[in-house]
Amino acid sequence: MRVSLFFLFAVTFCALAQQNDGLKYIQYDTDVISPAEYKMRRDSVMKMIGLDAAAVFYSSPERMRNGDVDYLYRQADNFYYLTGFTEPNAMLVLSPKGIRVKVNDSTLITTNEALFVQSKNLQAEAWTGRRYGTDGAMQMIGVQTALNNERFKSVFQQVMYSGIKYLYAQPVTSDVTGPLKDLLSPIISYVDNAKRYNSKIELRDPNAMVHTMRIIKSKPEIAMLRKASEISAIAHNQAMSSVEPGMFEYEVQALYEYAFQRQGSEYNGYPCINGSAENSVILHYNTNRKKINSGDIVLSDCAAEYHGYSSDVTRSYPASGKFTKEQKEIYQIVLNAQKAAMAQIKPGIAWNDVSAVADSVIAEGLFSLGIIKKKEGMGFKKFYNHGLGHPVGLNVHDVGQSVLATGMAYTVEPGIYIPETSDGVDPKYFNIGIRVEDVIVVTETGNENLSAGSPREIAEIEALMKKKGIGNQPLK
Ligand code: GLY
Ligand code: MN
Ligand code: MN
Repeated sequence: MRVSLFFLFAVTFCALAQQNDGLKYIQYDTDVISPAEYKMRRDSVMKMIGLDAAAVFYSSPERMRNGDVDYLYRQADNFYYLTGFTEPNAMLVLSPKGIRVKVNDSTLITTNEALFVQSKNLQAEAWTGRRYGTDGAMQMIGVQTALNNERFKSVFQQVMYSGIKYLYAQPVTSDVTGPLKDLLSPIISYVDNAKRYNSKIELRDPNAMVHTMRIIKSKPEIAMLRKASEISAIAHNQAMSSVEPGMFEYEVQALYEYAFQRQGSEYNGYPCINGSAENSVILHYNTNRKKINSGDIVLSDCAAEYHGYSSDVTRSYPASGKFTKEQKEIYQIVLNAQKAAMAQIKPGIAWNDVSAVADSVIAEGLFSLGIIKKKEGMGFKKFYNHGLGHPVGLNVHDVGQSVLATGMAYTVEPGIYIPETSDGVDPKYFNIGIRVEDVIVVTETGNENLSAGSPREIAEIEALMKKKGIGNQPLK
């Protein structure tokens, strides 16, 4: 009897300790976006969908790399935007009218939002990391209700019988496999059956609605973009100071990634692009295996992600530390185009009009060097084969709109790329690829360059490259 009482006490105590350990040993970052902001976002969605609707969002699937190895897990943009929750196998249900759920054996509550999370499981956690569990998730996210994800199926049924007219459910894409696919099976079978039986509940995709919310960045979001951009600018400065002929492109990549992670970035915003000479003309080159020779231009398009928000910064610099005459000529046109475009950016201007300004600087410049034979028309596009930029945010290529408004964040990234296959161009310009890319945020009066901590002027770059950086220490 004494043993069993003790056992009961121990089990109860452990269960309580397990429930209450909440954020302990999981949430180490203190500069995350507040639960109140996530709550505001979920409330906005509920307002938009209205009382006769419910919405379901879900996390990113875990993706296999090979065998027992998964790709590094990264949360889905829209799910993260609404929750800040970084674990896999999670779903969010929003019900403006409210649903009744059991939170324990004796308590039934009405809730407008339920987050479904992986249950605490010490055995699984010993392998793959600590989980928030329901209590931890409620504390961290400030969501009204968190439930074990096994309960999604029954709550989903309840939602479907709650008299709603519209179900806003993210389409379950074909890359969803494994446990997440099983968890989402009620949605999958509803969608199949809805088509077959002409369901009265209209199915809608909530992604566009959340994308609209993400266009204008809040102050805390801009703080994240600023941090990601400052980290990236310092990494570019270290790379420019360290690079020297004889290094390999992957060594330059390593410098960026070291500098990102040393400053607390969890991921690259996208794979590092470190192309020298013939590789500098490939827009998204990321093989990064070539040896860098004296005389090569190095184009590095590398940026950090910080708490979900990605920067996007490119610098182009000479391996030797001094631009050749031809590299200088091309570089100056690109930089002039970037500056002219940035000078236009303010609320109310159309992005196409900003782009047109950069286009004409590039066309004029290429014409003056004899690289194109006439400045009118689209001839310049052969050497500037991408757009001026794109919105940045939770995705490096984020959601946006055609007319700029205060709080939008954009890259400004003109470039000129002259492969050695360019007919009719003086070979002295071959294998020069230059892009200059910064992240700006639109302010009430114009814009602010968040990555200005890394220099762009030719003289400043050459001065920086005279210094030694962290990459000049031999590894032994
Ligand atoms: N880093 C990819 C891009 O500039 O769009
Ligand atoms: Mn970009
Ligand atoms: Mn880029």
